[in-house]
Amino acid sequence: MSTKRQLAQQLGVVVGFDNPQADLEQYRTPPAVASHLIHLADLNDDLDGRTVIDLGCGTGMLALGAALRGATRVVGVDLDPDPLETARENRRRVGTNTAVSWLRADATQVPLCPDDPVTVVMNPPFGAQAGNEHADRTFLRTALDIADVSYSIHNAGSVDFVEAFAGDNGGTVTAAYRSSFDLPRQFEFHDADSQEIDVELFRIEWI
Ligand SMILES: C[S@@+](CC[C@H](N)C(=O)[O-])C[C@H]1O[C@@H](n2cnc3c(N)ncnc32)[C@H](O)[C@@H]1O
Repeated sequence: MSTKRQLAQQLGVVVGFDNPQADLEQYRTPPAVASHLIHLADLNDDLDGRTVIDLGCGTGMLALGAALRGATRVVGVDLDPDPLETARENRRRVGTNTAVSWLRADATQVPLCPDDPVTVVMNPPFGAQAGNEHADRTFLRTALDIADVSYSIHNAGSVDFVEAFAGDNGGTVTAAYRSSFDLPRQFEFHDADSQEIDVELFRIEWI
């Protein structure tokens, strides 16, 4: 197994969004945060022998991390076709042999029902933009419908919400971590060159 740091280096070639859409909260998950999440999934034996589905895959960062770490097959789902094209190119950059498919679909009503056990990985929209509130709740609902385990990134202060959602839906939060990352300025309403975002990572078992 590569180290977490080596995985982050491999994911460093993943390029970001060409034309990021603020309403879809499109930003590339930093390689260090993605490698933390995928390393955790690997240590928990949640990749090998499983279909890994990345909900809101964007540039493919999490999907490709799972592919590099031995997932049996990987599906990346995004509403927007442009990042899916970028994800396809990123797959070539990363150079994995794992079967990876890119699916244009609404992750809140995902048309997938694989036979193999499913692990969901995701950095969903947090619902930070007006009109998009609770976007992460609808993504969690998909995770509980299609997966028996999920790894997700949420904004800081989500622990009560995530634990309550899991508890109300037969799930258990088995691990929770704090992290943070710098987002480069990419939308007009960002004042600074970069903004530090505090986030929380969760592992949830749905059965
Ligand atoms: C925070 S970004 C994460 C991107 C990805 N993990 C990465 O590192 O590039 C959220 C992603 O969710 C996608 N998205 C937003 N709403 C969606 C929906 N209803 N169905 C599918 N994808 C959606 C956006 O297009 C965006 O790519």
